[in-house]
Order: sequence, then C-alpha cells, then structure tokens
Amino acid sequence: MEVVVEGNCYVSGRLERCCVGIENGRISKIAKTLDGDKVYNFGSKLVIPGAIDAHVHFRDPGMTNKEDFGTGSMAAICGGVTCVFDMPNTRPPTTTLSALRDKKRIAECKSLVDFGLFAGVRPGTDIASLSKEAVGFKLYMASTTGGLLVTSLDQVRAELQAVAASGKVLAVHAEDESLRAREAEESLEDHMRNRSADCEASAIRKLGEKAKACRLHICHVSAKNSLPLLAKIPNLTAEVTPHHLLLDTASRLGTLGKVNPPLRRRDDRQGLFQGLKDGKLDIVASDHAPHTLEEKEESFDYAPTGMPGVETMLPLMLHHVKERHLDLGTVVRGLCERPGEIYGVNKGRIAPGYDADLSVIDISAASVIKGSKLHSKCAWSAFEGMHGVFPKAVLLRGEVIVEDGYLVGERKGRDSVGRQE
Ligand code: NCD
Ligand code: ZN
Ligand code: ZN
Ligand code: ZN
Repeated sequence: MEVVVEGNCYVSGRLERCCVGIENGRISKIAKTLDGDKVYNFGSKLVIPGAIDAHVHFRDPGMTNKEDFGTGSMAAICGGVTCVFDMPNTRPPTTTLSALRDKKRIAECKSLVDFGLFAGVRPGTDIASLSKEAVGFKLYMASTTGGLLVTSLDQVRAELQAVAASGKVLAVHAEDESLRAREAEESLEDHMRNRSADCEASAIRKLGEKAKACRLHICHVSAKNSLPLLAKIPNLTAEVTPHHLLLDTASRLGTLGKVNPPLRRRDDRQGLFQGLKDGKLDIVASDHAPHTLEEKEESFDYAPTGMPGVETMLPLMLHHVKERHLDLGTVVRGLCERPGEIYGVNKGRIAPGYDADLSVIDISAASVIKGSKLHSKCAWSAFEGMHGVFPKAVLLRGEVIVEDGYLVGERKGRDSVGRQE
C-alpha cells in the first residue's frame, strides 16, 4: 500500500481497530494489519469519514470581503469537512455555464477541500447545459441574500421539468414569499414572526404539488411542524443546520442570530433533534453564510441574514456524541454518508473504492469555540462559548492536510462531480 492509516475506524456502521490501505487517494483495502510505504498510526483515536457540507456560501466571486474559497475551505478542513457544495447566490450568480466554469477555476486555484457547485434555477436557466457540471440545482422560493428569488413555481415550470429529466437534485430554500410578513424587526422573535412556520409549510406543500417529478431536497428545515409534511412527498430528502438544532430565539445573539429561515423556539429545536435521530432529516449541513461583523452591527432590520458554520458543524455534533446525546452513527450518517449518497459523490464512507478523506478524532478532547480563532474571514461565531470536538488531523485523498489546526499539506481541492467511474 502507498499509505496506511491505523486507528479505531468507523467501518460498516461500527468502530473497529484496523488499518485502512490507500492507493492513488482511494481506499483500496481494510484489514487488521497492512504494510505501507507511509504509515500513520493514530492508536486508539477515532478515524471517521471526512464530512461533506452540502450547503455553504463561500462568496467567491463577488463578495470576497466576507469570505473566499481559500479562507472558506481552510475553515472547512479545520472542522473535518473535506468536501463542500457551494451555493449559486454569488456575484455573478451561478446560473450560466460560463459563470459555473469561472467559479470552478477559482475553486481549483484556492480550495483546500474538494467541492461541488450548485447552479441556480431562474426563468430561462439553460438546465441541460448546466446539468453535466453542477452538483445539483438550487431554487430560492423566498428572498434571502442574493437576487435569485422565484416567487411562483409556475414561472419555472419548464426549468423544473428539465431538472427532473436531468436526474440531479433540486435543493430548495422553502419559504413562501407570499406569506412573509413585513413588520419592522428589532429582535430574533420579530424575525421569527415575519417568517412563520406556515411560510415553510406552505412552500413545502407547493413543491409537493408542482415539483414532485424532481428529486427534491429541502434545505435548512427550521420548524418541527414541517416534518410530517416532508414524509408525505415521495423521494424527498431534507437537511437541518446546527443552528436550528442548537440555537433558538432565547439565545442572546441579536443580529448574529438573524438567519433565514429564522431561529425558532426550543420545542422546534427539540423536534428537529428528534427528527435527525429518527432519520426523518437526512443530512446536517451548515448553511455557512458569512457576513462581516461590521455588516452585522447594522440595526436589526438592516443587518444581513446568515451566519458562518462550516468549521463548527462536526465539532458541535461530536460534542453531543461525547455527552451521549447522539450516537456516532447518527453523526456519520448525517454529515458523511447521506450527503455523499444524495449528491452522488464517491465520498463519505470508509470502504474500498471511496476517496480516502478521513478525520482523526480524540472524543475526550473538547475545546471552547472562539470566533476569533476560527478560519472564516468573518471571524465570529454564533456558537461562541459552546464546546466542540475539533479533529486532530484531516486527510484529503490520502494526504494529511491539517494537523492540530495547522496547514501541513498542499492545496489540491478539485471538483468531485463526474468522478464516479
Ligand atoms: C444565506 C446567505 O447569506 O447567503 N442566508 C441565510 O440567512 N441563510 C442565504 C440562504 O441560505 O438563504
Ligand atoms: Zn436558504
Ligand atoms: Zn444558504
Ligand atoms: Zn461540554
């Protein structure tokens, strides 16, 4: 073997002391003992698959004062995320093949992690040309950062048919723009009232009627009452963010907690947590949406929505494993296996044939989250002061890229779309 990683590895749904053999960046063999040209022995530390964050906004191109593919991917890999799927609400928006290819060139130059790029759906989007190179399609049913709003599904009937024919996933920001209230906002409670749980429920119902031919994926589910609606639509998958699981309107966050869909109350949070355990929510994704502190210091009404989260997602979830609120299996399923399956990339499992993306974890070593120590350009966190279990080392395709928060490997992120063979 070229490379052998030894440790307490998460293989076929359980932990076992074994060796992972790697050739050409892929896992080729798993056995009790293996010889290798290069051997990393992590002893009793856990070795889990690299996480896939299926929802990030790295702001590149066009808003690189907030983030870029270099800083965003550094944050990702320091948090055990070895693959990210970037959203299309950049400047220019990723709605044409040339914009998609420009973004791909940027990411190939700057990214430390592998990536996929979403294409945005608007009236007139040429779905067929984009479908070979995009990881999936994204539809915004309510206004949020960027100008990709589609207010009625009838406006994009032809485009949705083409998405269905392409076989790619249609990821949706599901809030019903027509049900949004527009009262002045001064607090997280006000923001929640303006974008009620009914907004989310109504959008999900409309999708079930008018887009059911697509492989639907509901992004950032925020209300517990949405869970029974999701179950009614066949072949649908759903996502939840760490902030909707762990924060609510009682968290004293002010504008830092202003996000779409909004943070809600404790019982929603608990309902979502149960939904994740039950597998009603398929994946956890961060919706990493950085804005500068200066922008967040605007008055509540004017402050932009969104918060960073790619670096803290896996550490926060692992802390819940440490505290025995979650099984390791639930975390690996939601952050690694299911996103890989849903979007069809060769990642997210420690098994022969998969990319050798691995995180090394000491589950007893939690640390306190400090925004200023994280790697996102925005340098703040709504999870400030909470505990996280950060990975000791992270490998991308068989190479150690970070160790103890330091960059030790090279920048070799590449597009993971179309590499299935
Ligand atoms: C996101 C952003 O800033 O790009 N904001 C947010 O509040 N979540 C956009 C989005 O995912 O809706
Ligand atoms: Zn969204
Ligand atoms: Zn988003
Ligand atoms: Zn703790």
